[in-house]
Amino acid sequence: MRSGDEVIVLDFGSQYGQLIARRVREAGVYCEILPSSASWDEVSARKARGIILSGGPASVYKQGAPNCDPRFFRQADIPVLGICYGMQLMAKEMGGDVRPGVAREYGKAALHVAEKDGLLAGVDEGTQVWMSHGDLVEEPPPGFRALALTDNTPVAAMAAADRPFYALQFHPEVEHTPQGRQILDNFIFRVCGLEPTWTPASFIEETVAATAAQVGEEKAICALSGGVDSAVAAALVSRAIGDRLTCIFVDHGLMRHREAEEVTAAFRRQGFTLRAVDASDRFLSLLAGVVEPEQKRRIIGREFIRVFEEEAAKVGEARFLVQGTLYPDVIESGPGQAAVIKSHHNVGGLPEDLAFTLVEPLRELFKDEVRRVGLELGLPPELVWRQPFPGPGLAIRIIGEVTPEAVDRLRQADRIVREEIGGAGLNQEIWQYFAVLLGNTRSVGVMGDERTYGHTVVLRAVTSSDGMTADWARIPHPVLESISNRVINEVSGVNRVAYDITSKPPGTIEWE
Ligand code: XMP
Repeated sequence: MRSGDEVIVLDFGSQYGQLIARRVREAGVYCEILPSSASWDEVSARKARGIILSGGPASVYKQGAPNCDPRFFRQADIPVLGICYGMQLMAKEMGGDVRPGVAREYGKAALHVAEKDGLLAGVDEGTQVWMSHGDLVEEPPPGFRALALTDNTPVAAMAAADRPFYALQFHPEVEHTPQGRQILDNFIFRVCGLEPTWTPASFIEETVAATAAQVGEEKAICALSGGVDSAVAAALVSRAIGDRLTCIFVDHGLMRHREAEEVTAAFRRQGFTLRAVDASDRFLSLLAGVVEPEQKRRIIGREFIRVFEEEAAKVGEARFLVQGTLYPDVIESGPGQAAVIKSHHNVGGLPEDLAFTLVEPLRELFKDEVRRVGLELGLPPELVWRQPFPGPGLAIRIIGEVTPEAVDRLRQADRIVREEIGGAGLNQEIWQYFAVLLGNTRSVGVMGDERTYGHTVVLRAVTSSDGMTADWARIPHPVLESISNRVINEVSGVNRVAYDITSKPPGTIEWE
């Protein structure tokens, strides 16, 4: 945890809380999210330079609506920016007139700017802003003035005269507010007086020093999955402690075409001390006859830990275990979790009761920051931009039993899908694209003059920004056509290609 040149977001349950923090960090200023229950003492002890009160789904009038320590309004001597719910709370607490909304205002509005300096410096008259609120501030609290309005909102932005308190009724953090970045920058730089010092290079310098101090003269081990998180975590730790870090790569035999070789070669080129173990036979024999998705995940997860522990024992006397935990995992692992749809076993995600002390150098980072740090550390772009690949690998993309033939078939089909979509230059805009093999159904076809009775390959390709929701990608027909032709001609035993046009929800990205 850092303290000093940072902004704190107090989260009132907004769907945009993380987005606010990301925007602040994109401006080069460190930002953390705390629950709205955090006390003023806690925040002021961190010597934060600014506070943002997030939006939230509630009405300030609803019973049990989230509140915060009233001292944020009475005692705060640092800049505070309320956004949406945060604004209504500020207005209510400071004696303003908040009108319970009759209907929710939701969507785009044109902002009429009354005061063109300070928070709204450089913001154009009539600029589009994104509204999403029920309650409305009718009259600013005593000592506050309106900075802007919209046709439906008499106080769309306000400021206090004698304290650095500001508020916005609209959401500056979303794309639908094109000048929102300018407004947040004004808050961060003009109002809080911060400097853009949070960069990948400064993060690397501080984290390498902190890791060196944590590990001292001891040894550490790290499970590499081939994904960007574990690779960046390992690269940081290896900068800190050199060859006292041993990386372990367990090949479960469920990676994509040539992936295990490529990943190990890339890690060796990075100069990591690497133990690569081919355990595919062990995994495949345990998976024989298993068709249920969660059972596949459990088997793979358990066996992974076994193999990892065996390899770790060979390294000897390592006290530390490096993990690529990210900031969203840290904030989301609080209580009150949603229903488990999939257990999301993550290879590399080891249970915490292993006899190691954890080193988690990425705990403060969002995914896009991990990528920037990876590039700055000199990791190859293919690795840094690798699309997400589930820990249980191809096992959960084979519907039915995971046999060596099915794995081989899916690997070939998946290679073709990746070659065609990558070759068409679509890989940047599509979040994940892969093949799924329907290993337990067959359909009739005709090839030449022969009847065929073969398996179906399904193409799954989705756009998404975080994997939580997704839409099916609109791939141009000629690309679909060559995928279909090539899969049927080149992959034996497959006679049909289908395209999955289900969004998430109601579908999930993976089929299992
Ligand atoms: P779903 O299928 O739930 O996937 O829409 C969302 C994201 O999570 C990945 N995924 C997994 N990742 N272990 C993982 O490490 C798993 O068991 C697992 N299942 C799904 C999926 O690829 C997508 O990016």
